Amino acid sequence: MALLVVENLSVGYQTQNGYLHAVEGVSFSLDAGKSLGFVGESGCGKTTLGMAVMRLLPSNGLIREGRILFDGEDLLTKTDEEMRQIRWQEIAMIFQAAMNALNPVHRVIDQITEAIYTHTPSHNKNEAHEQVRALFKFVGLPEDRMRDYPHQYSGGMKQRAIIAMALACKPKLIIADEPTTALDVIVQDQILEETKSLQREFGVSIIYISHDISIVADICHDIGVMYAGQLVEYGAREEVFDNPSHPYTKALLSSYPTLTGEKSQLMPIPGEAPNLINPPFGCRFSDRCTEASVSCKSNPSVWLEITPTHKVLCHQCGKHCGE
Ligand SMILES: Nc1ncnc2c1ncn2[C@@H]1O[C@H](COP(=O)(O)OP(=O)(O)OP(=O)(O)O)[C@@H](O)[C@H]1O
Ligand SMILES: [Mg+2]
Repeated sequence: MALLVVENLSVGYQTQNGYLHAVEGVSFSLDAGKSLGFVGESGCGKTTLGMAVMRLLPSNGLIREGRILFDGEDLLTKTDEEMRQIRWQEIAMIFQAAMNALNPVHRVIDQITEAIYTHTPSHNKNEAHEQVRALFKFVGLPEDRMRDYPHQYSGGMKQRAIIAMALACKPKLIIADEPTTALDVIVQDQILEETKSLQREFGVSIIYISHDISIVADICHDIGVMYAGQLVEYGAREEVFDNPSHPYTKALLSSYPTLTGEKSQLMPIPGEAPNLINPPFGCRFSDRCTEASVSCKSNPSVWLEITPTHKVLCHQCGKHCGE
């Protein structure tokens, strides 16, 4: 049963140079208890997508089109007050660069307790502290550090505290935006393992945002590849990883080490993503694509279904399939 269904979502920003098309026509669905990873280069719209689902866009941000159905209800028709009830209790977000989001003047225990009180006022102090203790245990933080201030924590500990805070209200969906980017590889691996057990033990659904396709493939059931504001390939992890079909996905896969750690094939993707204020009419990747033909530049891309669960936005893939 789908917990989240996003249909034809387009989001942009008013800028001094004009309207910037940050997310264009994105559709996907996420079942309860499953994880979906969004991957793509810097600026492709991953954070904008997450912020739109949370309805936390900055004042110049605008959801131009689409529907965001959460538990069957369209979040775009909710009032601000209704969204406040849903945010953190139902959908929590671990923000990009969240490590610095802890308030430096309050003890970590008080910040997490505050989050619990705000959304579950019926809890008494002992119950709330008991819950914080359980959360600390779950995210692998030592109980005797609960009363520390954030500056007494390492980066990895801060990130775990942020995850504990996101879990405090037992949300159904967590959107984790690059939660491990600033951490060293060992701590990153530990947090990825915890993310997996989050799903096993809490049954929470996760949207995991990263520029690293190997991380997303490690922890997510489904993968959405984004390029210049569009979803360009979408499918089950094995399908996208074993049979990458969009030339951008192929390039992305060869620009990261494989899951087994082989690095010999590392290939940067030449060129730059297009300007999103005036995006190209045809395929947005065509200028950098080694497989592009004239029609790719002159016609908008079309979705091709490779399997019922794997689709790709590309002219060339259709030709290869004998269209
Ligand atoms: N507040 C804003 N005002 C104007 N443009 C913005 C704003 N926030 C983001 N953008 C633009 O929207 C596009 C998408 O940005 P977004 O932050 O969603 O990308 P991203 O995929 O999360 O990138 P990164 O991997 O660097 O975090 C980019 O072109 C970015 O410059
Ligand atoms: Mg981002």
